[in-house]
Amino acid sequence: MNNFTFQNATKIIFGKDTEQLVGKETALHSKKVLLHYGGGSIKQSGLYDTVVQSLQENGVEFVELGGVKPNPRVSLVREGVALCKEQNIDFILAVGGGSVIDSAKGIAAGAKYEGDVWDFYTGTPIETSLPIGVVLTIPAAGSESSAGSVITNEDGWLKRDALHDSLRPQFAILNPVLSYTLPAYQTACGITDMMSHILERYFTTEKNVDFTDRLCEGALKSIIHNAPIVLEQPTNYDARAEIMWAGTIAHNDLLGTGRTGDWASHNIEHEISGIYDIAHGAGLAIIFPAWMKYVYKHDVQRFAQFANRVWNVEIDLNDLERTALAGIKKTEEFFQSIGMPITLSEANIDDQYFREMARKATERWPIGNFVKLHEEDVYNIYVLAK
Ligand code: NZQ
Ligand code: ZN
Repeated sequence: MNNFTFQNATKIIFGKDTEQLVGKETALHSKKVLLHYGGGSIKQSGLYDTVVQSLQENGVEFVELGGVKPNPRVSLVREGVALCKEQNIDFILAVGGGSVIDSAKGIAAGAKYEGDVWDFYTGTPIETSLPIGVVLTIPAAGSESSAGSVITNEDGWLKRDALHDSLRPQFAILNPVLSYTLPAYQTACGITDMMSHILERYFTTEKNVDFTDRLCEGALKSIIHNAPIVLEQPTNYDARAEIMWAGTIAHNDLLGTGRTGDWASHNIEHEISGIYDIAHGAGLAIIFPAWMKYVYKHDVQRFAQFANRVWNVEIDLNDLERTALAGIKKTEEFFQSIGMPITLSEANIDDQYFREMARKATERWPIGNFVKLHEEDVYNIYVLAK
């Protein structure tokens, strides 16, 4: 097991009606906030009114900035930064999903910086940022307690991330009832993303990581069990609650303690959603199985363990490769069963940009840790995902 420091400062407030606590919780940090949200789902569901009322009841003044798009854009982040600077705002309240939270994080970092916020997404380290609070409406990205923010620059359609501990929200309010209104497709994208966050950590080259292996396997099994339930019964509180909590734990860094994660599939996917604007989870359903097929030979034993413990594939000691391949097949079939595309052509993506995406994904350095991937490898993975 690697040495590690684990600190996740986000206070999680979980359960029914917890969104009503948002004003009280925000008032602990600020009396003047930026209320940041997406394209309107929070207005349709009535959540916007609840949040506004709660802020007002607790004497919190707010300035609004809505309109965050899925695959959030740097232009809106820049608008938010300017607003915060002009109006002396010292706290961002994000109400929505990963896109809204990531946009809020970009604003939070940019508001404390003299230069252009995009610098942070191209290598300039973040030193500090404004505090953030979250009311989560979709379990998926795990941004509600992660240190990352992923933003797309319309100039060149680059999707890049920035990381810093100060980006971890101060609090995250998680009411599973708020996810009842999600369309099945978005629910499934979220499920795929949270599974991918676990898989990125699971496929490691560290050998003695039994405890976190089993945490990862348990988390995956629970998600696999509850996924069809939430898809068939969108208002099943118990199953929605399991999925929502799993989404946070999948990406709050606990499952990665003591091990080095891979993250190549995320990089490979970001090039796709950067150019084609498809949902991140859908892109992962396509890329993750292709990545698995490309790399499994580097540690057949680990892939066989995954097949056995997560998918209940019987281990064939005489042919571990067969066991490993059966686990990859099960993963692919599962994504398909929840309505995800598993090939690029299903998502109407042809090979026009394979070369460009492979070059962009690896332009800074080779990606991945389970196996280091260079431009040609990434290109081959796009071909496998065709
Ligand atoms: O914009 P609105 O109207 O709110 O609609 C959203 C959006 O269209 C809708 N939605 C959200 N909650 C809803 C709802 N519709 C009905 N009822 C609800 N309760 O769902 C759509 C997708 O929302 P989005 O925020 O884009 O989804 P998600 O949470 O999956 O976030 C995806 C983004 O997160 C990034 C991805 O790359 C992508 O840009 N990621 C962020 C990470 C992080 N910061 O740690 C890690 C992830 O790996 C990921 O890369
Ligand atoms: Zn992800």
